[in-house]
Amino acid sequence: MKTDSLFQPFALKSLNIKNRLVMAPMTRSFSPDGVPTPEVAAYYRKRAEGEVGLILSEGTVINRVSSSNDKDIPHFYGEQALAGWQNVINNVHEAGGAMGPQIWHMGVMPNHQSGWTPAEPFEGPSGLNSPGFSNGRTMTESDIADTIAAFGQAAADAKRLGFDCVEIHGAHGYLIDQFFWEGSNLRTDIYGGKTLPERSRFALEVIKEVRKRVGDDFAVILRLSQWKPTAYTNKMAHTPQELEAWLNPMADAGVDIFHCSQRRFWEDEFEGTDLNFAGWAKKVTGKATITVGSVGLTGEFLAAFAGESSDPSSLDELLRRMDRGDFDLVAVGRPLLSDPFWVQKIREGRTDDLKGFTKEALAALVM
Ligand SMILES: Cc1cc2nc3c(=O)[nH]c(=O)nc-3n(C[C@H](O)[C@H](O)[C@H](O)COP(=O)(O)O)c2cc1C
Repeated sequence: MKTDSLFQPFALKSLNIKNRLVMAPMTRSFSPDGVPTPEVAAYYRKRAEGEVGLILSEGTVINRVSSSNDKDIPHFYGEQALAGWQNVINNVHEAGGAMGPQIWHMGVMPNHQSGWTPAEPFEGPSGLNSPGFSNGRTMTESDIADTIAAFGQAAADAKRLGFDCVEIHGAHGYLIDQFFWEGSNLRTDIYGGKTLPERSRFALEVIKEVRKRVGDDFAVILRLSQWKPTAYTNKMAHTPQELEAWLNPMADAGVDIFHCSQRRFWEDEFEGTDLNFAGWAKKVTGKATITVGSVGLTGEFLAAFAGESSDPSSLDELLRRMDRGDFDLVAVGRPLLSDPFWVQKIREGRTDDLKGFTKEALAALVM
């Protein structure tokens, strides 16, 4: 297996990384009351020592009272939490890595199994998480303005603390995606509309604010998915033309890299074509893209939450697409939960040492 294309350096604005492998953002809930601990810093440092090119943090929530449904998910605001993140990025840099926080607002959510709820109701475009599932309130225009400002503040803080880039979480049925999706955005004001470009107004305003706060030279990544946790086969864009109409305004607003979330990277995005989501996003925008989804594993990630294990699998199909130039970067999730040295093992061709993924890795910060 010739993995050279995965081990070329990559540079874009503030981002300067030694290879094309990215740690996918993965929620861990190991930050009591939202404050990342020294163990969290050691966990990320270990992935930098293991030669991950770019680490994307677990989703870390912005400064809105109801931006999270879990008290142990890290905050990206407040003195203590930001001091925790300062320690994280210092550790990652000392170990020769690069990192960006994934900034996040969950929108309307089911209550967490712990029974903890935020001090105010969840908020979203229409109080809906998905069609027929309401568990919060509809945001006013002033809520929207404050939320956009909070995304901007988080991005500015990421830059101030010395992170290498920032990723905006616009995927997987959370707040920004709740605006995109007709199933959860029933608004009749300027933040709603019949078409996807109309429902993208909130995302566009977030991106513009983030860009304004970080300046032109700081790399901004946007994570998107066509699927939702409640609708795996959902397509936001059904054709390449619709994809172009969705993504290009966001590219113009300031996105440098589209992080295209799929559960299985090898699934072609549109029928009859041999390009995946990241492949199409690159083709229609000309921007850099990140692919993700079951790289190096036999099973996909949502099954992992149901306790399913996954064995190592070949990277041949990934390399075929990478060598063809379909995308620029490759994000890897579960293999890096189980094994901080996954990237190093791939570089050294030590495939017999690869561990796969078992559910025990969800329960601890494996060092
Ligand atoms: C434990 C866990 C937590 C996750 N948390 C997030 C998250 O906070 N933000 C996000 O965008 N995706 C999240 N994901 C999705 C991953 O980033 C990734 O897209 C997914 O696991 C597929 O990659 P993989 O097949 O290599 O694991 C999570 C996945 C796992 C397994």
